[in-house]
Amino acid sequence: MRYLRALIIVLPLSVFALACEGDDPVDCRADGANCSLREAAVQAGVQVGAAFREVSATDDPKYLPALTADFNSVTHEHAMKWAATQPQYGVFNFDEPDRMIEIAEANGMAVRGHTLVWEQATVDATPEYVTAITDPEELRTLMANHIRTVVGHFRGRVDAWDVVNEPLDTLGSELYQNIFYQLMGPGYIAEAFELAHEADPDATLFLNEALVSNDGDKFDALLALTADLLEQGVPVHGVGLQGHFLTEAPNHDELLANLQKLAALGVVVELTEVDIIARGQGDDAARLERQRQEFFDMASACLAVEACKRITFWGFTDRHTWIDSFFGPDLAPLPLDENYERKPAYFGLRDGLLSGP
Ligand code: G3I
Repeated sequence: MRYLRALIIVLPLSVFALACEGDDPVDCRADGANCSLREAAVQAGVQVGAAFREVSATDDPKYLPALTADFNSVTHEHAMKWAATQPQYGVFNFDEPDRMIEIAEANGMAVRGHTLVWEQATVDATPEYVTAITDPEELRTLMANHIRTVVGHFRGRVDAWDVVNEPLDTLGSELYQNIFYQLMGPGYIAEAFELAHEADPDATLFLNEALVSNDGDKFDALLALTADLLEQGVPVHGVGLQGHFLTEAPNHDELLANLQKLAALGVVVELTEVDIIARGQGDDAARLERQRQEFFDMASACLAVEACKRITFWGFTDRHTWIDSFFGPDLAPLPLDENYERKPAYFGLRDGLLSGP
């Protein structure tokens, strides 16, 4: 009987997984289609993803079904950063990422790894035993071991890595002088990519940057950095524009031009951490309508560029967003509202996904 019960439990999941894996083609442009975001993305030939965090199924039973219904890619919001995967020297912890990957694999979802090398004074993504190092060779050895161990552990299950996150000054266009830059020089970036490529030759390796979606000196610096790395033969396969639209709205034409300039270098491009706050005071309907247009402007810019393969949101419901604790409540930056209902932004995004050729 126990065996039979087990079979009954396993069968629906496996059927569901197969269905997800196939993502049976649906014509989302047909009248009355009412597609999910992942169905629209599949039809458009791109992936649509979301940052994942530990949310209790008891406290919030809607979280996982909503994620798997609308998204076919996930990025863990914090559990694949150095402070989580190697919290103490030589002690690795992959439990939470492994749990997320099991969920992703059971639901036909790709996995982006975020991130191997990221150190900033205001962020606790890299542990103090790393930032306290003063000897270049010690840091070089530690970084090599970290990348080899982490990428090796996930090899074959993580299709893309943000190898180096935010290499530029947050509000500038120079290389940020993190501990890796200070001790190893700017070459730390190339070394990190070489190590990641050696550890998983099949993974798509990304340089990931913030505040570079609209035009500006910082984007120009990212473009020049990417070109320089490619010139050196560094295996930079992709560039991620994070897309945190907090202080300014997406500018469709500027974003399109930026994506095209990067694609012209021969890399794939992705929007990797998108949130677009509902800005302005107006009444809720006006704010949300403006946000719908901004979601469309962002997504349609990606879909106009062949090399733009994925849009990932930094969360997917206003119930769980980093922005609440960092910038304040009620900024409503994501496609689903606090009750997992589709906002106008959801439809703007879906139309943007379907706006391509
Ligand atoms: O997991 C610990 C928990 O055990 C502890 O009790 C708690 C209180 O100290 O901290 C928890 O870790 C926090 C983690 O989020 C999980 O909640 C870290 O302190 C906190 O710094 C971390 O914040 C994340 C931040 O990156 C720094 O890693 C945010 O959730 C995440 O949204 C944010 O995401 C970044 C991207 O990685 C890079 N681009 C910018 C983006 C927004 O800052």
